[in-house]
Amino acid sequence: MDNSVSHFILLGFFSSWEIQMVYFVVFSVTYMLTLMGNTAIVCAVLWDRHLHTPMYILLGNFSFLEICYVTTTVPNMLANFLSETKTITFIGCFVQFYFFFSFGCDEAFYLCIMAFDRYLAICHPLHYPAIMTTYLCTGLVAFGWLSGFIFFIIPVALISQLSFCGSNIIDHFICDPVPLMALSCSKSHATKIIYSTFNIIFMVGTFIFILISYTLVIFSVLRIPSAAGKRKAFSTCASHLTVVILFFGSIMTMYVRPVSEKPLELQKLVTLFYSVITPLLNPLIYSLRNKDMKAALRKVLVIKRTSHKT
Ligand SMILES: *[C@@H]1O[C@H](CO)[C@@H](O)[C@H](O)[C@H]1NC(C)=O
Repeated sequence: MDNSVSHFILLGFFSSWEIQMVYFVVFSVTYMLTLMGNTAIVCAVLWDRHLHTPMYILLGNFSFLEICYVTTTVPNMLANFLSETKTITFIGCFVQFYFFFSFGCDEAFYLCIMAFDRYLAICHPLHYPAIMTTYLCTGLVAFGWLSGFIFFIIPVALISQLSFCGSNIIDHFICDPVPLMALSCSKSHATKIIYSTFNIIFMVGTFIFILISYTLVIFSVLRIPSAAGKRKAFSTCASHLTVVILFFGSIMTMYVRPVSEKPLELQKLVTLFYSVITPLLNPLIYSLRNKDMKAALRKVLVIKRTSHKT
C-alpha cells in the first residue's frame, strides 16, 4: 500500500457560509430530537414493567441502536459545517465507515428479528411464550448487535487495502464506500464487484425474510375473528412495516443499482434520508400508533417533570 493520503476532506453540502449555518441549526435540532425521542423509548422500556416483553425489549434495543447509528455521522457532520478545512483523518474515515455501516446492518437484522417475533406472536400465539423465552430473546438481542460488526469486517478490510494516492476530496458528508472507491488509485474492479455482491445478498436476503414474515402475519391477521383483535394486530404491524419501508426503500435506491451513475446530489439526499431522517421518524412511528407505548412514555415524561420540581 502506498498511501500518500493521511486525511480526507468531506465536502458535505457545498454552499455559502450562511447556508452552512442554516444546515448546522437544522441538523442540530434534528439530532437533538432524535436523541430525545429514542431515549424516551429506551427509558419507557426499561422503566415500565408492562413493556418487559420481547417485542418492547427488541424495540428498546432498536431505539438505542438508532442513537448509536446517528451518532456515528451527525456530530462529525455538524463539526464540518463549522469547520473551514472539513478534514477527517484516514483512520477516522474508515472508523466512521465501519461503525456507520455495521450499525446500519444491525438495524436491518433487528428489523428481521422484530418481524420474526411478530410472526411467532401472531401466527403461533399458543406456542409463542414457550418459544420466545427470555433466553432466546437475549440471544437475538446479542445477535442483532454483533452481526453487523462481524458481517462488515470484510468490506471494510477490502476497501481499506486500496491505495489512495491522488485526490483526497470526498464529495459527500460521510465516509461512504462508493466515493472512497472512486478516489482510490488502485484498480479496484474486483473490490467493487465483491462489495456490491455483498450488499445485494445482504439487502435482498434480509428484505425477503421480512417480506415473508409480514405476509404470513397479514394472512393470519385477516383470519382473526374479532374486529378489535384484528385492529390491534394490524396497527402494530403497520408501524413495523412503515419503518421497514422507510429503511429498505432508501438503502435500496442507494446501493442496489450501480450508484456511480446517480447524480451526487441525489446520493447525498438519499443518504441524508436514511442516516438522519429515519432515526428521527422511528420513535414517532412506533409510539404514535401504540397505546401501551404512549402510556409508558407519558409516565416517563411525568417522572421527568416531577423530578425537576423536587
Ligand atoms: C436490550 O435487550 C436486553 C437483553 O434482552 C435487555 O435486558 C435490555 O433491557 C434491552 N434494552 C432496552 C433499552 O430495551
